[in-house]
Amino acid sequence: MVDGGRLWLRLSELAEAGKQESGGVTRLSFTQEERAAKDLVASYMQEAGLTVREDAVGNLIGRREGKDPDAPAVLIGSHVDSVIDGGNFDGPLGVLAGIEVAQTMEEGGVETDLAVEVVAFTDEEGARFSFGMIGSRALAGTLSVEDLKHEDRESVSIAEAMRAYGLDPEKIGEATRPRGSMAAYLELHIEQGRVLENEGLPVGVVTGIAAPVWRSLVFKGDTGHAGTTPMQLRRDALAAAAEAMTVIEAEASATGSSVGTVGRLGVEPGGINVIPGRVELSLDLRDIDEATRDRVEDRILERTRELCGRRGIGFETEVLQRMVPVSCSGRVRSAVQTACGELGLGPQDLASGAAHDGMQLAGLCPVGMIFIRSRDGVSHSPDEYSSEEDCEVGTEVLYRTALDLAVEVRGF
Ligand code: GLV
Ligand code: MN
Ligand code: MN
Repeated sequence: MVDGGRLWLRLSELAEAGKQESGGVTRLSFTQEERAAKDLVASYMQEAGLTVREDAVGNLIGRREGKDPDAPAVLIGSHVDSVIDGGNFDGPLGVLAGIEVAQTMEEGGVETDLAVEVVAFTDEEGARFSFGMIGSRALAGTLSVEDLKHEDRESVSIAEAMRAYGLDPEKIGEATRPRGSMAAYLELHIEQGRVLENEGLPVGVVTGIAAPVWRSLVFKGDTGHAGTTPMQLRRDALAAAAEAMTVIEAEASATGSSVGTVGRLGVEPGGINVIPGRVELSLDLRDIDEATRDRVEDRILERTRELCGRRGIGFETEVLQRMVPVSCSGRVRSAVQTACGELGLGPQDLASGAAHDGMQLAGLCPVGMIFIRSRDGVSHSPDEYSSEEDCEVGTEVLYRTALDLAVEVRGF
């Protein structure tokens, strides 16, 4: 059995890296806070007996050798970066649970045919550069030099941030793992929704992962005096953006499955008595069905162009990232179901509304995820919480699943 107390202690220690007054954390990629988190995780990997290294993009990887060093490895992981003022479980749980799995194998003298690797991916969230999954993209070989041009709010590019962190952006190709080098990718994560809580279940089996498209939308009007410019003579960029936001809400709601969010709004010049001349907003649009998402996106853009035309507002939009939904592997799902059955847990199938690194790896190897119950479904918030008991039982399911795959994986 895994040691839930040790896992809980490590979760609380890791929560100190980038801790905010709110009780949450801010750990953006390639920062001191994220470095501190990775250093702590590296020390846990060493305690677990893993051989630790960091690859060309900063992914932290701990390896426990199997009987066959040439066989593909079972990879278990998640991320330790966070959104701004995020919670203590989104990401850290999966990394620390992976270490707990490896340490439990080590302490039990368990030999597996395949190596087990634990990874803390670099920048899953995309909170700094509005472009995420940098580490898993690099592993999958889909991170391009062009991608490294994405900039943060201070106009620092990913490539520049990597250099300042001691990494060489020219070498990202070295992080790429060849096809066939991984038998499966497994991730334990908090659900970040209410399905399991509503069902009264601690653990769920993930069927697939919904995919976001991220865009920037820029509205250009005329700044002017708030007191002297008559209403009919204004070209107010924020009024146009506000109308576009209601379009986003209406179009996403109309499908019943899509979700659309404007999480960031930049208003210029930003004076109380000045008509806004330029507004930039972010759009995060998702669906488990790609065609539905793309239809909603088309409708939003069509209606936004129409309303901007009507208001005499200039409009530009750019894709920041576009992901494809993935289905989890049947073989991995059945291993998770078996583990749940052994523990007397009624396995609940559910889809992931949040995005995860496995989406990038799905072209490389079978991918599977295990969810545990989230209190009130809250995530990307300091109030994010899952109980010690649920973390432990989820990690035990992860342990049994990893053992199953690392011993018997030949049939893939
Ligand atoms: C990551 O957590 C995302 O779903 O955006
Ligand atoms: Mn996450
Ligand atoms: Mn997240």
